Amino acid sequence: MTGPRILFVSSEVAPLVKTGGLADVSAALPKMLAELGCAIRILMPAYGDLPLPPEAARVVYAGQIAGHAVEVHAASFQDLPPLWLVRCDALFGRTGNPYLGPDGRDWPDNADRFALLARTAATLALQGADGFRPDVLHLNDWQTGLAAALLADRPERPGLVFTIHNLNFQGNFPYEWFGRLALPPELATMDRLEFHGQLSFIKGGIVHADAITTVSPTYAREICTPALGAGLDGLLRHRAADLTGIVNGIDPDVWNPATDPLIHTRYDLSTVERKGANKRALRAAFDLPTVAAPLLGMVSRLTEQKGIDLVLECLPCAIDEGAQLVVLGSGERHFEQALVDAAGRHPRQLVFVTGYDERLAHRIEAGADMFLMPSRFEPCGLNQMYSMVYGTPPIVHRTGGLADTVHDPDDPGVAPEAATGFVMDAATPVALEATLRRALGAWRKPMVWRELQANGMRADFSWRPSAERYLEIYRRVARRSAGAAS
Ligand code: ADP
Ligand code: GLC
Repeated sequence: MTGPRILFVSSEVAPLVKTGGLADVSAALPKMLAELGCAIRILMPAYGDLPLPPEAARVVYAGQIAGHAVEVHAASFQDLPPLWLVRCDALFGRTGNPYLGPDGRDWPDNADRFALLARTAATLALQGADGFRPDVLHLNDWQTGLAAALLADRPERPGLVFTIHNLNFQGNFPYEWFGRLALPPELATMDRLEFHGQLSFIKGGIVHADAITTVSPTYAREICTPALGAGLDGLLRHRAADLTGIVNGIDPDVWNPATDPLIHTRYDLSTVERKGANKRALRAAFDLPTVAAPLLGMVSRLTEQKGIDLVLECLPCAIDEGAQLVVLGSGERHFEQALVDAAGRHPRQLVFVTGYDERLAHRIEAGADMFLMPSRFEPCGLNQMYSMVYGTPPIVHRTGGLADTVHDPDDPGVAPEAATGFVMDAATPVALEATLRRALGAWRKPMVWRELQANGMRADFSWRPSAERYLEIYRRVARRSAGAAS
């Protein structure tokens, strides 16, 4: 094994537990890193309902961490690299959403829960387990940030990489958590973890990691500005020399219309007309009439970030144009209610499905003609890439990873064979309406549309080049201590 040894820490890993793109990345990136020769372990909490047979687990660590009895179980699942599961039932043994209780609110002890994940990561980073001691600890999002703060001053620590998947989720907790978590007092300062009178987990990663990455080059620039810096832009500018934007890829074992077991009819570029069978099946599933109209899809968390309010404002336009829409999403109640109401008013044109449904997400990508993703900000975004490879041109806002991955035929410098979707310059209802009309106009020209579809289906969103960039960063920060076990 020639590559560095990586301990990759994440609070969600698909298909075991997923609330968004972090889970997809936490599966696909480690898989590609293993292919590139890294020895890798994925560390995540042992939530109460992971679909893993308990007897398959092997204890590789057992001890007391910050007053909690913790076991780490080695497990394997499908084609994922080896998993290390942090077992502490009092904190992680619950079922359902990993961050929210049944009332839809954050678990009140989330600071405790993710401090324990971070502390376990720090412990394993220093002492290793099962003959594996990492050269690099790769931390993802606020849930893991504290580990970098706890390790920064330890000479025997591995290299520290922190990836920001969404700067707006910061893990900020009331100041008294410094004491409740018994954190070293020197961390309670502005230049460490204190943030506007609170304890900020994400600052742990941003302040202390050797290298910081985020999930697209454009987002890396945007978070250094007050507009999208979420109060941390000053700190990020200060660390700009160590900040890199690396665009996410997609996992072709999961998102590929030629092999996807979840869709109605499989197809590829040479059989793209079979996509029509998926459209028919999607319509039939929701009693949408067969008319000569485009079908728009959306799969999203229902939050302001994703611009669902813009979609709601533009509904009258889409309806007037005769379009049909299938929206799958869950999130803020008022958006769900607005969609339920609108679907009630337009049963022949709008379907809203609430909840989390992996199979339907695939069926929408395959069955829709175009995909709506007018996010206000989008660190990378995966759905626009899934859409393009499914021949479903996306309508997006020019922000973050959307700006980096979608190319509009009307933009200067975009050759016809490079165009893959529609990009609007502002996240406003006016801009969305204009872009929607432009997309509908293109859809009515079959030759134009075919080319747009084909360009997206041909595009390469492989993880390999991005994983190679992570590997370069790992090599730069790796620390192989003399006493390291192999
Ligand atoms: P984010 O992580 O900000 O939510 P991404 O585009 O990176 O955005 O990733 C979202 C992922 O979550 C995609 O794989 C998408 O298909 C999936 N997803 C989002 N909402 C749902 C839902 N209601 N049902 C099924 N999958 C969903
Ligand atoms: C976050 C971002 C999304 C990104 C995903 C994976 O959830 O909101 O844009 O694709 O992380 O990096």
